[in-house]
Amino acid sequence: MVDNSKRATFGGKLSAVLVSAGGAVGLGNIWRFPYVAGENGGGAFLVLYIVCAILIGLPIMLGEFSIGRQTKSNPVGAFRSLNKSWRYFGYNCIVTSFLILGFYSVVSGWTIEYTVHSVTGEITRHASAGEHAAFFSSFIENPWKPVVYTSIAMLLTHTVIALGVRKGIERCSKILMPVLLLMLAVLAVRSLTMPGGAEGVKFFLMPDFSKVTARTLLDAMGQAFFSLSIGLGTMVTYASYFNEKTNLRTTAVNVTVIDTLVAVLAGLVIFPAVFSAGIEPSAGSSLVFITLPGIFASMPLGMVWSSLFFLLLTVAALTSVISLHEVVTVYIAEEWHMSRKAATRLATLSVIAVGSLASLSLGVMKHWTIFGKTIFDALDYVTANIMLPLGGLMTAIFVGVVIDRRVLHDQLTNFGKLQCHQERTVRFLLRYVCPIMLALIFIDNLGLLKWI
Ligand code: TRP
Repeated sequence: MVDNSKRATFGGKLSAVLVSAGGAVGLGNIWRFPYVAGENGGGAFLVLYIVCAILIGLPIMLGEFSIGRQTKSNPVGAFRSLNKSWRYFGYNCIVTSFLILGFYSVVSGWTIEYTVHSVTGEITRHASAGEHAAFFSSFIENPWKPVVYTSIAMLLTHTVIALGVRKGIERCSKILMPVLLLMLAVLAVRSLTMPGGAEGVKFFLMPDFSKVTARTLLDAMGQAFFSLSIGLGTMVTYASYFNEKTNLRTTAVNVTVIDTLVAVLAGLVIFPAVFSAGIEPSAGSSLVFITLPGIFASMPLGMVWSSLFFLLLTVAALTSVISLHEVVTVYIAEEWHMSRKAATRLATLSVIAVGSLASLSLGVMKHWTIFGKTIFDALDYVTANIMLPLGGLMTAIFVGVVIDRRVLHDQLTNFGKLQCHQERTVRFLLRYVCPIMLALIFIDNLGLLKWI
């Protein structure tokens, strides 16, 4: 057994919320959400997204929080101590977090590189959309630069993780989260006042349900899952550091609200600017890296806005990288009986190795493919489409059906000290609604629901 009595805990109430929100808010909110919403018709997607966040995201986050604080352990230890044969799903958490880091660290590297190029004026020097697209592809294909930036992203993360739970992760999230919200708000005001920006707001906030299909719903569910960081033990790990007074219900609600707020603010930054420039909102994953720089270039003080935006993206990305890294690190430290320092070093070096391969697979190693996909795309596809919904499905069944009912009860009520009227609803959602919805996403991602 692992001795957990010396485990770190976060400070006050606010820390639990800000640290978990830091892990949840990331590229998923600022880069992925706007382009998926743009592809799915805007407003109606936002409504579906919010419904999914409440019906699936919240209960699973509460489930993860409960097993994390109950066991005070890494995900493998947590699953194992509540039911021995379920420990394999703990391994799914660790392996998937590691694999996500493999490509997430690369994109985080790009955000740092784009920040640097914004400050030097490189980004806003290009005028046409074609030039921006060419700049982006030549830059991700470069044989060494992205590798260097991936390593920089990981070394920054390493420093925070090595400082420890309290001095590193907690302090960093407490500073970075408010900075992020402030920067987003400034950018949203700027974007909203651009000529023609109101059209973008209309597209984003006025739901047009005639555009909704089953696919929109599946996309909204997948996005809610990725954005809230659930299914892979991130929240199990963070909750293992919560103190006994933390109210899990209000923490989960606050994290969900902050995460959604950031996604909405990101939409309010991006859509007015996109409409003002007359660009199609369904431009896809290049929206942030190709479309936006084009818009910044045409704005007065473009260099300032572009630097601010990419700095913001870097901050959001890094707090998520930190959360994924912590999952891997604490697993290595506790299960392989290593010091935190050695575990951090091992995790960082391994991620840099996989990240470098992923980065090179977009350029010089393009021809090395796995099932027809580059290493980068394969990592993204397998984790987001298969391992993540599988992890979520298992977490919902584990908490809702497998383990003793008392665990959820004790954790939601802080061992009877608080009242929780929603316990039955949460259990119902975990037992029935989440498994059905998640099974659908999973089957769909395997390509079996193509006809929808
Ligand atoms: N939620 C983060 C984002 O929006 C990414 C992330 C961090 C994540 N930890 C995770 C996604 C665990 C799924 C599972 O960018």
